Amino acid sequence: MPASPIRKLVPFAEAAKARGTSIYHLNIGQPDINTPEVMLDAIRSYDEKVVAYSHSAGLLTYRQKIVKYYKALNLDIGTDDIIVSAGASEAILFAVNSCLDAGDELIVPEPFYANYNGFSISAGVKVVPVTAHIETGFALPAIEDFELLINEKTKGIMICNPSNPTGYVYSREELEILSQIVQKHDLFLFVDEVYREFCYDGREHVSVLSLPGLEENVVVFDSISKRYSACGARIGYMISKNQEVISTAMKFAQARLSPPGFGQVAASACMEVPASYLENVLNEYDQRRRVLVEELRKIPGVICPEPGGAFYAFVQLPIENAEHFCRWLLEDFSHEGSTVMLAPGSGFYSTPGSGRNQVRIAYVLNVDDLKRAVAILAAGLERYTELQVETA
Ligand SMILES: Cc1ncc(COP(=O)(O)O)c(C=O)c1O
Repeated sequence: MPASPIRKLVPFAEAAKARGTSIYHLNIGQPDINTPEVMLDAIRSYDEKVVAYSHSAGLLTYRQKIVKYYKALNLDIGTDDIIVSAGASEAILFAVNSCLDAGDELIVPEPFYANYNGFSISAGVKVVPVTAHIETGFALPAIEDFELLINEKTKGIMICNPSNPTGYVYSREELEILSQIVQKHDLFLFVDEVYREFCYDGREHVSVLSLPGLEENVVVFDSISKRYSACGARIGYMISKNQEVISTAMKFAQARLSPPGFGQVAASACMEVPASYLENVLNEYDQRRRVLVEELRKIPGVICPEPGGAFYAFVQLPIENAEHFCRWLLEDFSHEGSTVMLAPGSGFYSTPGSGRNQVRIAYVLNVDDLKRAVAILAAGLERYTELQVETA
């Protein structure tokens, strides 16, 4: 199993904290936004006598609420098309294990959410990357690039829309291109939509569930973790109209017995969360996004494409080895008692050597902290470059 690039610098961060250095965490997608009160209240007023297992596919009452959520989006999903899981993470594991055999190949545009690697490796599946480029803001690679990689072992394509780590929001045209490819080659199309509500500047999120003719191909992942700032509730789900996929995934779901009980209590209350909650959350992230991009672009040599969704930016720094730099920031640098923690970019690629001068930045801090963190990053880059010159 590869180490998570998001977490592997944690020991250096812990050591820095032990030395008294405070750290601005831009490395992990843990929102700082309060979880909606109605969800917390639902847990506080839990009055069952036994904390029991639920149905392996998740509480029917919760799945009915998910159906209602999609109905409001004009998407016709049935309770039997849904398996509730311990976060989207478990849903991805179920899907990869259900749809691919060991030795099969999964094409994933890179940079990608690094855990897709771990989930695939644990199923014996080979991730085959198709590279998206910073120059195009990490848009979908050309159809020819996909076609070149497809062979008899290819069983699916996995995308994240909006993307973690790039913030790219796929257009309807791009999704239609993918639709053509998967139909032509009879592949699965796995789409991670956990950031589906997080689109900025009027960008429209097109769910792959709305594309006609893909019912047998599509598996969607979703989660309450980011949308309702409820990462610890561990509730997500997979959706597929392909009943063979669902019945195979149910074997995995039954083997692990049931999704989390308290989490489903919290998740069931989501439907009562007022629309204003998400509007405020989106405004907050949008403001942070603008500040982050503006401040980063002031730093000489930094390239920051505009992220259209999620809450990440994938950024090129004027250095050679971002992993070394990120570690140095934690081990050897502080600015007025503080430093920043970033996720090195190379861990989001599977092509060796790619992303070496890139980092992922999560804008999960308030605007003031974010400005301060970018100022520290700028000071760190300046000092690091001086040191490189001195040692050269
Ligand atoms: C793209 C993406 N998919 C899945 C997950 C996992 O989410 P969950 O907390 O629902 O397991 C994350 C978490 O960061 C993510 O960014």
